[in-house]
Amino acid sequence: MPVNEKKPLILLIVGGGIAAYKSLELIRLLRGAEFEVRVVLTKAGAQFVTPLSLASLAGNKVYEDLFSLTDETEMGHIELSRQADLLVIAPATADFLAKAAQGLANDLASTLLLASDKSVLAAPAMNWRMWLHPATQRNFERLRSDGMLFIGPNHGAMACGEFGPGRMAEPEEIFAAINAVLHGQKRLAKDLAGRESLAGKKVVVTAGPTFEPIDPVRYIANRSSGKQGYAIAAAARDAGAKVVLVSGPVALPPLAGVELVRVETARDMAAAVEAALPCDVFIAAAAVADWRVDSDFDQKIKKNGDSPPALKLVENPDILATVARRSKNRPSLVVGFAAETEKLLEHARKKLARKGCDMIVANDISPEKGVMGGDQNTLVLISAQGEVAWPKLGKDEAARRLVEHIGELVSKIGGG
Ligand SMILES: Cc1cc2nc3c(=O)[nH]c(=O)nc-3n(C[C@H](O)[C@H](O)[C@H](O)COP(=O)(O)O)c2cc1C
Repeated sequence: MPVNEKKPLILLIVGGGIAAYKSLELIRLLRGAEFEVRVVLTKAGAQFVTPLSLASLAGNKVYEDLFSLTDETEMGHIELSRQADLLVIAPATADFLAKAAQGLANDLASTLLLASDKSVLAAPAMNWRMWLHPATQRNFERLRSDGMLFIGPNHGAMACGEFGPGRMAEPEEIFAAINAVLHGQKRLAKDLAGRESLAGKKVVVTAGPTFEPIDPVRYIANRSSGKQGYAIAAAARDAGAKVVLVSGPVALPPLAGVELVRVETARDMAAAVEAALPCDVFIAAAAVADWRVDSDFDQKIKKNGDSPPALKLVENPDILATVARRSKNRPSLVVGFAAETEKLLEHARKKLARKGCDMIVANDISPEKGVMGGDQNTLVLISAQGEVAWPKLGKDEAARRLVEHIGELVSKIGGG
């Protein structure tokens, strides 16, 4: 940074959630990039991180009390919010979002927020039930329409041992978002503002495995967790689309604001997709079983000392190709996934041609990559326009980028 240039000043509000420890890393990243950081710690926040750790990393005192005579004489609360270039709330608790949505000003953090005319970037962090609660969703929508910017929350493992949406964005993601807002990176800033690249569009997403019965109690399945498909459905919803999620059996909670159709077999999934048409975009992220057992065992097959039963496999309907090759009601954009354990790009390119879809998202699911069931993915987008390879990303971030890419393609197709 040139000698006389003023360092950008971030006013970081640290709320009372487990994820407060990640704010220490955020401060480290900001300081490393020559930002000045002033920290405001809520009373609850101080239960999770100490003012000493925050002050040491920020290289500045930490502000905690609205009625501190010393702080008010040194720097009044109005001045504290005015001097900042950007206000960042990380973690933004359910409580803090509720207060902000109501315009309450009953502690230093909420008063600063109300007294500020600067952009505000919030990184929500809470248990998934708290996040999906209608009250929190209402507050989130209200704040978004008031102009508050949001990064996350991500879908993932929570401190409480549960899994779902509500996990705070990683410090690196918040750091990137701060830079996007301050340096006017229009595309990301637009996303953070929740402006909706798929507004008015209908998106159908498939996710998870299918279970193919052998008899009434046994089935053939695969290791798909559904996490990537659910993350895509959530990202499409956040981009303003009406989303139908056709899901095989998974251990994930339903997504707020997304119509969920639960299915078990590939044939059920094909029928549910058919019923959800017409749509603008179809994203086939499910790991649909290629074969099912050609059986009509309506009772459990018994082990009776004879040789094991011979299972004959027959092909399942090809959902992706069927949708891509429709002559009537074909979605404007049909996106398939190619999960491969070898020759990733070669197989994916062939799949694009074979299925007749517009884009294939190739992902390497060889066991050492830990993609199936894991939280990260390395994707390559293959279409007639070329190939785009992304580095290893969290499945939420991969979904966000994919939806952003799809939004751009749809606007070109639609001339919008
Ligand atoms: C152990 C523990 C962990 C908590 N984690 C969170 C959390 O991750 N997100 C959240 O919204 N609230 C969480 N809470 C509740 C908040 O701390 C509580 O709502 C508090 O009033 C928030 O205050 P603040 O928004 O002023 O920081 C947690 C509470 C406890 C006791």
